[in-house]
Amino acid sequence: MKPAAKKIVVMGLGYIGLPTASVLATKGYQVLGVDIKRNAVDTINEGKIHIVEPDLDLLVKSAVNSGNLRASLEPEEADVFILAVPTPFKKQDGEDTRVPDISYVEAATRKICPVLKGGDLVILESTSPVGTTKRIAEIIKELRPELFDSPLPPPHDSPVHVAHCPERVLPGHILRELVDNDRVIGGIDITSAEKARDLYKTFCNGQIFLTTSCTAEMTKLVENSYRDVNIAFANELSLICDKLGVNVWELIELANKHPRVNILRPGPGVGGHCIAVDPWFIVDAAPDQARIIRVARQVNDTKPHWVIARVKAKAARFRDPVIGCLGLAFKANIDDLRESPALEITRALIADKVGRVMACEPNSNGEFTEFPLYDLGRVIAESDILVVLVDHDEFKMIDREGLKEKVVIDTRGIWR
Ligand SMILES: NC(=O)c1ccc[n+]([C@@H]2O[C@H](COP(=O)([O-])OP(=O)(O)OC[C@H]3O[C@@H](n4cnc5c(N)ncnc54)[C@H](O)[C@@H]3O)[C@@H](O)[C@H]2O)c1
Repeated sequence: MKPAAKKIVVMGLGYIGLPTASVLATKGYQVLGVDIKRNAVDTINEGKIHIVEPDLDLLVKSAVNSGNLRASLEPEEADVFILAVPTPFKKQDGEDTRVPDISYVEAATRKICPVLKGGDLVILESTSPVGTTKRIAEIIKELRPELFDSPLPPPHDSPVHVAHCPERVLPGHILRELVDNDRVIGGIDITSAEKARDLYKTFCNGQIFLTTSCTAEMTKLVENSYRDVNIAFANELSLICDKLGVNVWELIELANKHPRVNILRPGPGVGGHCIAVDPWFIVDAAPDQARIIRVARQVNDTKPHWVIARVKAKAARFRDPVIGCLGLAFKANIDDLRESPALEITRALIADKVGRVMACEPNSNGEFTEFPLYDLGRVIAESDILVVLVDHDEFKMIDREGLKEKVVIDTRGIWR
């Protein structure tokens, strides 16, 4: 399908915004990426990238070389504005509050307001609490009331269209999933949703489902909460089984033989900046109703403490224990350390001086950790206690014969 709009501004050039801007540019749109970080803007204008994602470097290079992708600190007039800015927790005294902070979305909206014109489409891609898309429309209405002097009867149309299209991509597979995933698009009115669909149809292979902006916002939050609750069930089972002397891995394998049971695998906790964060947006909005969602978060958040206690109990048997922590990333075969329970556990073991901690993260060069990393062979050779924290492929291939003298705490069940 031919592009329906000529020029697109993408606000926020991070893990979501930059791949989106690049894909759109390679589809023939004139794309201006906007970020508040000069370094990101300069790097992209040189055809290079400031984040790590497979194949993104080639895509950005070709998009910039084609002349279709530019980056800037300031937005310009366009037909479509896509907001892909952070939606973290609010901070208080430097600590996360678990209350969503939509100030980045609000700031990006204010920034585009002076260049908006009637008929433009504004799309929120950031994972957002319910009501954020409507809030964008309110801000535009406050700052540019003339844009809403519509001759068309509400609620069917508005001169500026505002929609939400939550992003569901998996880090490490962003470029494929950006194009292949199904999409849920919610508008503040029907025309907004339809206009957004017409844009996504030009670069997405997946199916597109239209709904209201609030339902689209909630859909994304619910997807991650569903994962979190299911992981919490598995993690809770691991605690119960430990108390009862039952092998949790065997138990889950057997229970999953039932045709309608599919229990996930326990782990050291839940990390990343989505599953560990988004359920709190629901809890914040409906604290009395979101009881399972809240408890699931608490179960997953406390699992690292349980792992730490187990390591301490084993370490107490040694005079000068050497503890090998295998993996730091928040999940297998990536380098991303954000909200990682493996990192939390390793840091706590070091801070509590439980022993000499030797950490191994095969996907990292140690640039983002305040402690040294060791190669796998050395960690295996020198450790008294081996704690498997991430199910990286490298660890699965270790010959278990060589571990017979070691105490093994396998939080991922890879050596069962
Ligand atoms: N990364 C993922 O895998 C993923 C997946 C699904 C959804 N999301 C959601 O997408 C949103 C963006 O996430 P991300 O991972 O791309 O974040 P990110 O931190 O990688 O990128 C956000 C970018 O926005 C820029 N920015 C902040 N304020 C701005 C402003 N006012 N104007 C222009 N740029 C601004 C930042 O400098 C940063 O470069 C979040 O809501 C996140 O929850 C992320």
